Parts: sequence; structure tokens; C-alpha cells
Amino acid sequence: MKSLAERPENPVVGVAVAHEHGAEHATGAALYTDDLIVRHQNVLHAWPLQAPHAHARVMSLDVAPALEVPGVARVLTAEDVPGINDAGIKEDEPLFPREVMFHGHAVCWVLGESLEAARLGAEAIDVEYEPLPSLITLTEAIAAGSFQGREPTVSRGDVETGLTNGTHRFSGEFEFGGQEHFYLETHASFAYVDEGGQVFVQCSTQHPSETQEIVARVLGLDNHDVTVQCLRMGGGFGGKEMQPHGFAAIAALGATLTGRPVRLRLTRNQDITITGKRHPYHASWEVSFDEDGRLQALRATVTSDGGWSLDLSEPVMQRTLCHIDNAYWIPNVEVHGRVAKTNKTSQTAFRGFGGPQGMLVIEEILGRYAPLLGLDPTELRARNLYVSGQSTPYGQPVRHAERLAEIWGQVHQRADVRGRRRDIEDFNATHPDTRRALAVTPVKFGISFNLTAFNQAGALVHVYRDGSVLINHGGTEMGQGLHTKMRQVAATALGVPLETVRLAPTRTDKVPNTSATAASSGADLNGGAVKNACEQIRDRLADVAARKFNIHPDDVRFVDGTVT
Ligand code: HPA
Ligand code: CA
Repeated sequence: MKSLAERPENPVVGVAVAHEHGAEHATGAALYTDDLIVRHQNVLHAWPLQAPHAHARVMSLDVAPALEVPGVARVLTAEDVPGINDAGIKEDEPLFPREVMFHGHAVCWVLGESLEAARLGAEAIDVEYEPLPSLITLTEAIAAGSFQGREPTVSRGDVETGLTNGTHRFSGEFEFGGQEHFYLETHASFAYVDEGGQVFVQCSTQHPSETQEIVARVLGLDNHDVTVQCLRMGGGFGGKEMQPHGFAAIAALGATLTGRPVRLRLTRNQDITITGKRHPYHASWEVSFDEDGRLQALRATVTSDGGWSLDLSEPVMQRTLCHIDNAYWIPNVEVHGRVAKTNKTSQTAFRGFGGPQGMLVIEEILGRYAPLLGLDPTELRARNLYVSGQSTPYGQPVRHAERLAEIWGQVHQRADVRGRRRDIEDFNATHPDTRRALAVTPVKFGISFNLTAFNQAGALVHVYRDGSVLINHGGTEMGQGLHTKMRQVAATALGVPLETVRLAPTRTDKVPNTSATAASSGADLNGGAVKNACEQIRDRLADVAARKFNIHPDDVRFVDGTVT
């Protein structure tokens, strides 16, 4: 904690203020990607041709009939790609595939004067498919040995001995499904080329820099030829961290080939059938407990369903392995992770990023075996919570571990969990066909990126001669209020009222090479950058004032918009 003297004299940070565009959100005045088209003329609309097979070879593709449909301007296919026909950061996602990898995979895109014209054009296209065998479930993929990417293991201690020496030994397996992000705004991109040849893409993306990179790669351009802007998103939840890139590339390709603005916004059906979701998982394990119910050893294999391509499946699995212990001390651990390759959408980031999946495995283990150990599940969990001095299976000391038991007790007491359980039992005893239940689980969660180089950010701050301030930073707004917080940070650091600080849209030509707005780190990382930039400017101004008035720079104060 900083001393009183070091703390900002007029803290705007921490003050409850409304979302900087809350009123516009509520009235509908706030613009989202697809709203921008009303400001442009000659806009073309993009519609995908989606394959009706889970796995198939594209034997032939005849787009001529589409061009006969009134209002169809162009059909985009692999032959049109001047750069690399791939939209995946792992280069395993052909943008125009010759092999259909999941039901609904977009084979090509039609540009029309209207959305309806593009849609009718897509239906007129003649495609011949050769259906291939497909893998749909995790069980099928595991049986077939269909995996992709790295297979990391987290381990500590001697699992074999731990399992053998445990008083109670169990083995089991568990499978659970994925989840659709269901952001209110479906994926959307809007692209045009300016008079200087600069490609501009407004995109609903959590990762403008990577969208820029993929667009440039597909177009065969340098990154500086492409600008990606994200005004705001109508929700992301991880679903717009990697998945926007291909749609942005289609819009940009259409714009460069036709010289006209191209708008691509998925319908809800298209969004759900084309884009990746939370990873479903399968887990199998052997586990042992001592006579008091304390975990002794865990050996497990966790398999995620990555879908047809890698996308973020590897880091998602890495995070699963970092959360398989959840909040519990397991002295001997050996957990093996792998990503199945199936004929489904490419599963991707989703709130928690594999963490919840890891936690679910150990919570299932504790919940399933508590009755067999003769213990209440709440008691079993309490006995296994980390205590000070212990470390995680990946070697991080668990600091402040005593908080776990304290909070666990507080939550149970304040929420009257025992009383609620009694009520539930009474309810269940008197209702013939309805059952209620209550679960309480602890959480230890790792904030920020596992790949630590991603834990960085940039900001660009302008202070104009009238004292007004304009800030740019690398984070994206998806309703979480990041921009509001960044204005508060700047106002605090510069000692000016919040109204003095305006925020400009997130753009790759203002703050380059950014990390995704992800991993619960957007405010911390970008806030650090905004603060740092503002402090540099403030200190330079203080030096100028100090020289002018012949005083010490530390005595120049910036408070409430006044310098004294
Ligand atoms: N969450 C956590 N870690 C990550 C993410 C994310 O969205 N993306 C890459 N690493
Ligand atoms: Ca995937």
C-alpha cells in the first residue's frame, strides 16, 4: 500500500461512474460493426455457402449459376486469394477448404447487392461432395486415436506409490459438453480500401492485432497495409478472440477485389453452425485418499474436443492442467492432457479458458467419492483445501492459503448453507417429481496469460493545448466497461476531471502488436500502459513548470484540472 502522500490527490479510479456509453447502449445510438454500413454507399453483402456434410472432399465447385442470379456481384473462392489461403493462427484452417471438416463449413462466399441476392446466389452454386467418414464424439475420436497438437503433462511426486499407499483407491471417468458463447452481436466485419490502397476493417474482434495479421496474410500484404478497428463488441466471452479473423479476411478480400465496401455479418444460425465453442472434455482417473479423506495421488488423462483445427486448444488445455488441483493439495500428481481432432466447429476460448473444465474434474472426484468415504462432501472439500507452505503441481507457492479455509467457513455460515440444505431435504421429501440441490465449491483461478510475454499492453495519450486529453489503448470494449476504466486511470494520473478525457476507438494503427483482450487482464494490462504514458507526460510538464517558476518538480501539483 502506498503511503497517503504517494496516493493520487484526486482519485477518479474506484469512483462508481456509469459506463462511458451506457446511455447510447440503452437508446440504441451506440454503433456496432454492422451499423457502420449505413454511412457508406455501394456496400456489398457476403453470404457463405455451407457444406451439408460433417466430412467430405469438394470434388467440384461451379460458381457460374450464381453469377446468373440478379444482384450477385462476385463469388469468392480459393483461386481469388493473393496471399495464403489460411485463417488459422496455427495455419491449419484453410479459408476456402477443399476438404469439408464439419457440418456447415463455409466452402465459398457470395457477394451480392443485397443479402438476399447473395443468399440466392449461394444456393445456385453447384458443388459436388464426396462424403468421408467422420468423427463426431470424443469417445469416437479417442477410440480412433485422432489427436492434434501438443500433449502436455503436469506432474509432481510419485503417483504410483501414492496410489498404492492410499487407504481408499478409486478409478472413474467423466464426460461433459461444451457451450455456445451467445454474444448478442454475431460475428461481423466491414471492410473497404481507401484511396491510398490502405485496407480498413472494422471488426467485432477481441484481438485486433491478430485479425490484422491474418487479413494481411490472406491478402499477401504487409501488416502496415491493413488497419483493424474495433469500436465495440456486443459481447465476446472468448468467442471473438480467434474466430473473427477469417470473416475479416473474407470482407477484406471482397473489398480489394471489387473496390467496394463489403459487409459480412453472420446470421445467428450461421454463427452457431460455423464458429467454435467451449471445449467439451473427457476425463479418466485413478485417485487415492488416506484414512481421513485426504487426497494422496491423482493420475488422470484429460481429453478436450478441439474440433477440426487447433485454434486456442493448446493453451486452453495448458490452463486445464493448471486448474486440475482447483483449491486442493494433491501431493502426488500426474495429469496428461491431449486435444482430440473431430469433425466439429473449431472449439476456442470461452470464459475461464479451460480452467472450469479442470476444476470440474477434481470437483466431480470429490463429490463422487465423499459418500464412499463416509464423509459429507463439504467436509471432504474442507479437509483438502491448500494450507500455507504448500505449492501447486506446477510449482507455484500458494500464498495466503489460510484465506481459503476462512472464506469457506464464512460462506457456509453467512449463507446458512446447513439451513438451506435442510429446507431442500424437506422440499425433496414432499415433492413427488421435483428435486432441488445446492453445491458449494471453492475456486483458485489464475489471472492473465500463461504465455507471460502476452502480459503486456500499449497506450497512446495526447494532451492538447487546451488541456483536453485523448487516449488510445490496445484493449477492446465488449460491454465490460474497459474504456470507462481507462478514462478513469488517465484522469487520475493526470489530475484532471473525467470529462476532460476522451477515448478514441481501438485501432491497430494507433497501438500496434497488442495482446488479445482476454484472460481477465484487459484493465490491468492496458490500465498500466495508460497510467505509464500519462505519468511520463505529467512528469515532463512538471519539469517545464519547475524550470519556469524555479521550484522543485515534486512541488508541481496536478489536481482537479488545475496545476499549482
Ligand atoms: N484466457 C486465458 N488465457 C488465455 C486466453 C484467454 O482468453 N487467451 C490466451 N491465453
Ligand atoms: Ca479448436
